[in-house]
Amino acid sequence: MFGQFSRRDFARLAGLSALGMAATPAKPADGEPKPAPDRHAPASFPDGFLWGTATSAYQIEGAVDEDGRGRSIWDTFSHTPGRIADHTNGDRANEHYHRYKEDVRLIKDLGVKAYRFSIAWPRVFPQGSGTPNPKGLDFYNRLVDELLAAGLEPYATLYHWDLPQALQDRVGGWQSSDTSKAFGEYAGYVAERLSDRVRNFFTVNEPGRFVNFGYGWNIDAPGLNLPPAELNQVRHHVALGHGLAVQAIRAKARAGTRVGAADNIAACLPAIDTPENIRAAEIATRELNAGFLGVILEGKYTDGFLEFAGAAAPKFTADELKIIASPSDFVGLNIYAPQFYVVASDRKPGFTVLPFPASFPHMNSEWLRIGPETIYWVPRLAAKAWNIDNIYISENGTSSTDELAADGKVYDLDRIMYLRNYLAQLQRATAEGVPVRGYFLWSLMDNFEWIFGFEKRFGVYRVDFATQSRMPKLSASFYRDVIAKNAIGM
Ligand code: FCB
Repeated sequence: MFGQFSRRDFARLAGLSALGMAATPAKPADGEPKPAPDRHAPASFPDGFLWGTATSAYQIEGAVDEDGRGRSIWDTFSHTPGRIADHTNGDRANEHYHRYKEDVRLIKDLGVKAYRFSIAWPRVFPQGSGTPNPKGLDFYNRLVDELLAAGLEPYATLYHWDLPQALQDRVGGWQSSDTSKAFGEYAGYVAERLSDRVRNFFTVNEPGRFVNFGYGWNIDAPGLNLPPAELNQVRHHVALGHGLAVQAIRAKARAGTRVGAADNIAACLPAIDTPENIRAAEIATRELNAGFLGVILEGKYTDGFLEFAGAAAPKFTADELKIIASPSDFVGLNIYAPQFYVVASDRKPGFTVLPFPASFPHMNSEWLRIGPETIYWVPRLAAKAWNIDNIYISENGTSSTDELAADGKVYDLDRIMYLRNYLAQLQRATAEGVPVRGYFLWSLMDNFEWIFGFEKRFGVYRVDFATQSRMPKLSASFYRDVIAKNAIGM
């Protein structure tokens, strides 16, 4: 189809539509044509809004046996038959470990100012704790230098799910507070060495996801099925690990280094915008996130959370709560899909969650329901619930089937549709003063999408995994244009 549609045809059509627009300006009474008022002024983002893109170590690096890297729970898990939909693993992935220079050029070409990547803990501490492996950290030194030379601001995530297998074997991973302590030490070690150049660190990525899916529901690594009490304890240890990491960074990093978590906040929003439902969505935001965001921002578990957990509530000390609530500099929110549409209720806790109809639309991943207003409501309600003054959208994006067209390109119009609508809602939030300071598009390039393997593509660059060639999709041009204008629309 594309073959028959020439560039000239396209230019003609585009020209015609421009003529059509020029023919309709309002004519004032004196008969002199005046330009029509610009009713489509671009919706601008605040000056200095930070545009970025994101990846994570296990999903792109490959080189799993190089330079002394230890094994991670995702190596073990992805090599366990039946775990990954397309029977692949991250052994090679995008070979980013060796191709990082080329990848930094791709990031630069997008026009973003910032790049969020993750550091593989088992590269730095192959055994999880104890003797560090300087060669592992060297890779991130090289990457950071390359980013800075390209004028890109590094945002490093310390934990994007690739727990050292040794810690899982020794103490049951996050089942033990020993892992929280080891995480704090690892965070301090890295921050001490990188914070002369890396000014922003995310502690843990999506605790809700890796705790529930990994330790509770036997879906992600390490593939456990723990009962509620043990699962709540795991969550508590992750919150403790976050707090210890914040403290270690304060102690070891250069002054002014900023730190916060990147949470897959349970996304609550009003089903219909009324003051009562908005209030209900705010209560839901606080209650349904009490197990992580709530406790790190408030220093306590809500009564509702503890009552609901009952005998399965986590065991904790006042001291631990203090550590957990060590003040952060920002909150990262990963926002993809609406999760809880709520309405007000007279009964405790003040909201009712509505069921999703089976026909609710989704993107190319079933879980990725389409609800652009999610990225408006969630930061707004979170900022209100916890009085947050710096929010980053640490991830947002979508998968797409991304077929190659006859001309060899990828016209990912569905991804563009998704991004356009979400970014319009994000602009609405910033215009209303919701303190969102930046946005990291997931993802720079197609990569190892965990249990879906390489089947689900999230990149704005297409990766051919046989040849490792990278090619911009149409959405890369779309995103570049948004960034250049610092606005959505025209
Ligand atoms: C998030 C993960 C990220 C990627 C996207 C699609 O949950 O943080 O690694 O898998 O989803």
